[in-house]
Amino acid sequence: MGFEKSFLPALPFFFLCSLLLNNGVEASHKVYVHLQSISAETVKDLHRTGYHFQPTKHWINDPNGPMYFNGVYHLFYQYNPKGAVWGNIVWAHSVSKDLINWERLEPAIFPSKPFDKYGCWSGSATVLPGNKPVILYSGIIDENKTQVQNYAVPENISDPYLVKWNKPDNNPLIVADKHVNKTAFRDPTTAWLGKDGQWRITIGSRKKEKGISLLYKSKDFMKWTKVKKPLHSVQGTGNWECPDFFPVSKHGTKELDTSVIEGDIKHVMKISLDATRYDYYTLGTYDTEKDRYIPDKDMVDGWKGLRYDYGNFYASKSFFDPAKNRRILWGWANESDPVDDDARKGWAGIQLIPRTIVLDPNGKQLLQWPVEELETLRGKKVEWSDKKLEKNDRIQIEGISAAQADVEVTFTFKSLDKAEPFDPSWDRYDAEKLCGQKGSTVQGGLGPFGLLTLASENLEEYTPVFFRIFQDKEDKYVVLMCSDASKSSLEDKENMYKPSFAGFVDVDLTDKKLSLRSLIDHSVVESFGAKGKTCITSRVYPTIAKYTHAHLYAFNNGTETIEIESLNAWSMKNPQLMNQ
Ligand SMILES: *[C@@H]1O[C@H](CO)[C@@H](O)[C@H](O)[C@H]1NC(C)=O
Ligand SMILES: *[C@@H]1O[C@H](CO)[C@@H](O)[C@H](O)[C@H]1NC(C)=O
Ligand SMILES: *[C@@H]1O[C@H](CO)[C@@H](O)[C@H](O)[C@H]1NC(C)=O
Ligand SMILES: *[C@@H]1O[C@H](CO)[C@@H](O)[C@H](O)[C@H]1NC(C)=O
Ligand SMILES: *[C@@H]1O[C@H](CO)[C@@H](O)[C@H](O)[C@H]1NC(C)=O
Repeated sequence: MGFEKSFLPALPFFFLCSLLLNNGVEASHKVYVHLQSISAETVKDLHRTGYHFQPTKHWINDPNGPMYFNGVYHLFYQYNPKGAVWGNIVWAHSVSKDLINWERLEPAIFPSKPFDKYGCWSGSATVLPGNKPVILYSGIIDENKTQVQNYAVPENISDPYLVKWNKPDNNPLIVADKHVNKTAFRDPTTAWLGKDGQWRITIGSRKKEKGISLLYKSKDFMKWTKVKKPLHSVQGTGNWECPDFFPVSKHGTKELDTSVIEGDIKHVMKISLDATRYDYYTLGTYDTEKDRYIPDKDMVDGWKGLRYDYGNFYASKSFFDPAKNRRILWGWANESDPVDDDARKGWAGIQLIPRTIVLDPNGKQLLQWPVEELETLRGKKVEWSDKKLEKNDRIQIEGISAAQADVEVTFTFKSLDKAEPFDPSWDRYDAEKLCGQKGSTVQGGLGPFGLLTLASENLEEYTPVFFRIFQDKEDKYVVLMCSDASKSSLEDKENMYKPSFAGFVDVDLTDKKLSLRSLIDHSVVESFGAKGKTCITSRVYPTIAKYTHAHLYAFNNGTETIEIESLNAWSMKNPQLMNQ
């Protein structure tokens, strides 16, 4: 991913307006030259996470080249070694045996050669036959941000952690031809093998307002040629960053290597839309004859489409884990506080908890769930069952550390009769707007009910994560899920970003149940609705509800009584982060 000052494509006017009004997206793209090489004098502990992945200080963004190799998980990520805002980007490197406890190593890739002198931007790892890992990344070669694709290989394949990486002199491997926009040409994917025995990768790009995923192929991984037609493109979506393209199994739980291109599978195409800063995906078919990706007919392709996460989650990357036959997704969450605060606190950005991804049995979307290894951090536990939440009830979940917790809850209700009517004038693609209007304090029929996370005792501050159910037509229901940061902090600085993040949940309500899991960690609340159908991440900065002053509640503000069928909540321990 890159940062540019002028980035807005000519999107429809109403969309642009909501973009600028809602989230001040302009600010996030500024390059703060005056701040980018000012090293943190002190690192503020307040709001740092306990069990999310964070370096000891300074700025991080995209996860890069995640892979499993010889029993070790590798995570690389975009990192500024010199300051807490974007700049001076290198590939930082950490290794883990379980995706939770990490050891930090020295940066693996950093600017040093003509082909990456101005930056080492995002990319991916591929493990080639014969167990040979190779990284592809975007190098910046001049002050105009001209982008090329480079490779790097481990210096010593016998080193269990692959600490040192070499960038051979035959780089760059790929430069933009005259038909490719050389300043929007980045983030190569993990390669997959075609039926013709050639490797393929896709690279994010744009042509005017058309977002493009370029396709390249190679017999030997060294000499790459562009396939004339891109793998995929969509008009009016602007620049595509960090594309990801991989198979998911149609049945069962066994996931697949990226090179599995046929069989009982569907393909996922994910793009990170620079204009909106969210990660969108479609499900579809990979036509291996034409080398094109075709989204399924009912898929919405572009910024109205499905998102991995309806909150603070961007530039994600997945990899296949052969040790457990699963596909794992890493996403980055930036800060929502003003840039000056980042400079003051000495750090910015976290990696979210890695998630497994599988196809929903309904075939229409993905399901995401925190990797099972996270459960090893669960400590003290509180358990409830069959607890009633009447209208206006707010019950404290006591006995765990509410600022650093994992909560799983299943809600049930007797009837759908009290669901409020879904006003046909509401925008079906703007859940966030609806959540802004129908917040947790606006009384309803069936909902709002859910959790109040990072809450102060007297609710001066809280981040509610909740459901609200509407009746559409006859027996059709619309489930709204919100993670609302608007009351998360008494800090009310102009550039504090406190959106009412929300998504709809495509869930069958015949059994009158809805489940929610929230991972709460000081300044982040990562929530999974209906077993991972809809995910929302919020970054929040409570001033009262911090450390032991944070509280956790279950609440109902609808007229229909809600029952908590089961609730399990745990204090979360800190993982080991070695070589701090
Ligand atoms: C990061 O934070 C800002 C708010 O400061 C937000 O507007 C922006 O969209 C966020 N996301 C990314 C991926 O930069
Ligand atoms: C960068 O762009 C400017 C303006 O178009 C041009 O004058 C300059 O030669 C370019 N620099 C390089 C290294 O291409
Ligand atoms: C490569 O790594 C192995 C295992 O750590 C080590 O024994 C060997 O000395 C290393 N080789 C070189 C050339 O550094
Ligand atoms: C090329 O990409 C740059 C950077 O995103 C953009 O400003 C420019 O408009 C693009 N040009 C075309 C023709 O797409
Ligand atoms: C429920 O709604 C009432 C009335 O709007 C409000 O005062 C109260 O704070 C709400 N409760 C919660 C837990 O949000």
